[in-house]
Amino acid sequence: MIKRTFADIPIYDFDEIDSTNKYGLENLNAIKSDFLSESTWVKAVVTARQQTDGKGRRDRQWVSEPDSSLLASFIIEPKFFGTMLDTTLLITCVNKILNGLDVPSKIKWPNDVTVDSAEGTKKLSGVLTQIAGDYLVIGVGINIKNIEHSEITNVACLNDFEVQIDRDELLKIMLNEIVNLKDSDYVFENVLEKYKSMSSTLGRQVRIESMNETIEGKAIDIAITGSLVIEMPDGRVVELSEGDVIHLR
Ligand code: BTN
Repeated sequence: MIKRTFADIPIYDFDEIDSTNKYGLENLNAIKSDFLSESTWVKAVVTARQQTDGKGRRDRQWVSEPDSSLLASFIIEPKFFGTMLDTTLLITCVNKILNGLDVPSKIKWPNDVTVDSAEGTKKLSGVLTQIAGDYLVIGVGINIKNIEHSEITNVACLNDFEVQIDRDELLKIMLNEIVNLKDSDYVFENVLEKYKSMSSTLGRQVRIESMNETIEGKAIDIAITGSLVIEMPDGRVVELSEGDVIHLR
């Protein structure tokens, strides 16, 4: 592992690791002793060329090959109550930098960055937030290159958009975006507005498969809790706090 810093943010860079999120969760005390700044939102970053046991939401796997994606876990001192708005702010940063690289990505609720194509919605990036004491470990995977894997479908990568970039450069761009966030970027109304303006889910007919139920309707809003607000065909309005969204049209 190589340790370096970017603007007072310690970075732990591994050649291979099981999961950068797992490392962040299990080594928080040691990482805390390296924190350099009181004032930063992101306190440290764990990154790797390759993960052997990458984790996704809902106990899924995040599959990668060496250098095929940016694999990074941001150790964050939350600015907001709960986990949702910090995650939302980070995912808007991811989407903004991808748009800055001319990738026409949007955010699919709750926290996937996707692109629409003739073959449907394809995932470019996913985010997994876990709680570690007073901190959050927000893991971000961004696909850079295509990989061959039987379990992977509906995936896009930066190379599909002629973006040639390596994981180091991408991490630097992300950290630069983060350290340059202004006070107003941390105001919850602004976080939510930015997220909504980047959403590919709002205004769409969707099916949501949550733990308890599957419902279909129109996605009409994101509540301040982060829940997706759905208008059902019978006019009822429901809020869902978790689930997998399928964009129907
Ligand atoms: C998802 O789409 O379900 C979330 C995927 C999150 C993947 C990233 S890769 C870096 C970090 N380490 C992990 O084990 N998972 C996250």
